[in-house]
Amino acid sequence: MNVYSRLVTAISLASLISLSAHAGEVEVLHWWTSGGEKRAADTLQKLVEAKGHVWKDFAVAGGGGEAAMTVLKTRAVSGNPPAAAQIKGPDIQEWGALGLLADLNAIAAEQKWDSLLPKQVANIMKYEGDYVAVPVNVHRVNWLWINPEVFAKAGATPPTTLDEFFVAADKLKAAGFIPLAHGGQPWQDGTIFEDLAFSILGADGYRKAFVEQDKATLTGPKMVEVFAALQKLHGYIDADAAGRDWNTAAGLVINGKAGMQVMGDWAKSEWTAAGKVAGKDYQCLPFPGTQGSFAYNIDSLVMFKLSDAQNRKAQEDLARTVMEPEFQQLFSQNKGSIPVRQDVDMSTFDACAQQSSLDFKAAAASGGLQPSLAHGMAASSYVQGAVFDVVTNFFNDPKADPKRAAKQLAAAIQAVQ
Ligand code: BGC
Repeated sequence: MNVYSRLVTAISLASLISLSAHAGEVEVLHWWTSGGEKRAADTLQKLVEAKGHVWKDFAVAGGGGEAAMTVLKTRAVSGNPPAAAQIKGPDIQEWGALGLLADLNAIAAEQKWDSLLPKQVANIMKYEGDYVAVPVNVHRVNWLWINPEVFAKAGATPPTTLDEFFVAADKLKAAGFIPLAHGGQPWQDGTIFEDLAFSILGADGYRKAFVEQDKATLTGPKMVEVFAALQKLHGYIDADAAGRDWNTAAGLVINGKAGMQVMGDWAKSEWTAAGKVAGKDYQCLPFPGTQGSFAYNIDSLVMFKLSDAQNRKAQEDLARTVMEPEFQQLFSQNKGSIPVRQDVDMSTFDACAQQSSLDFKAAAASGGLQPSLAHGMAASSYVQGAVFDVVTNFFNDPKADPKRAAKQLAAAIQAVQ
């Protein structure tokens, strides 16, 4: 080997070493697997890869994330958690108490998270005052998605009240459409139940029932009304709803087979992926009777303690990336949500996101901003699971008694408190 080729070898070895010194691997557990969700998740992967790291995708299919949480527990128990996992709301505290989470305070200080995030959001991301999670976005759960062409064919009017909702559903049914596209899975039943409760109990009653878990509210006449409305609504879903995924249900509305879907705004990711335009090809309406209120569902990535220094660097860059304006915009535009940072320019967002952003701020000022129960923001996953059990059993039994269901709801919640 002559001097020149030795030099070339030395240089390429050095650059290889510096490349590998920089590159770390970041394994991310999430359940963003529908067509629209995947497009959103891909934006994060690309930005992390652009920082020189290796993305290891740990996607576990299953809307609402129940399957993902089961898999995560198994990995954590065996002492091998991923670098980051989508864990939300009060459950972050449970994971924090296990002592497995990484401290993100240095990055939070560097990027000024405390001043970029609403206080309510920042508090959810902290365990005993330390940041252990980075917030990704803000979803709104109380939405109704409508296909206006189907509505026009059926002579139906977009509803603003629950009474109008049932009038529209009757028209859609009479015209031969599926009035309400639904997937019979506990978390989807729970999502509809939560929206009905938000509408019938109002923001204050909703908070009393699901955040404070007040027994009188849980068993009161308004909650009985909620179950009665849920029972009525069952008459407007199709016979094949059992087990259907939420994105398949969204597809029924997109393809003009159904008129409406009750779902959080991740449903918009499917419309966006199908090339449809908000306000033209589809309409987003606050769930009837919840105008001005906002049931929030904040996606967040919790970071686990890692021993490998390069992987730790990759993990830190992941946290940084999530809070950068570029990601905040790109991800939410694909995911259907709004940025969690309060300083992102909303002018490049569609009409639904712009309305969501305005309503978020107005609801925060009026007391109408409430955490979603069905999406793990209002209570622990134990309470959430207890509610799902009662709601799903009730929904699938045409003879069930609303009064009894309200009592069962209170008892089930009490049993896991
Ligand atoms: C998550 C969303 C997700 C949806 C459907 C929600 O609980 O917060 O990010 O898109 O479930 O899987």
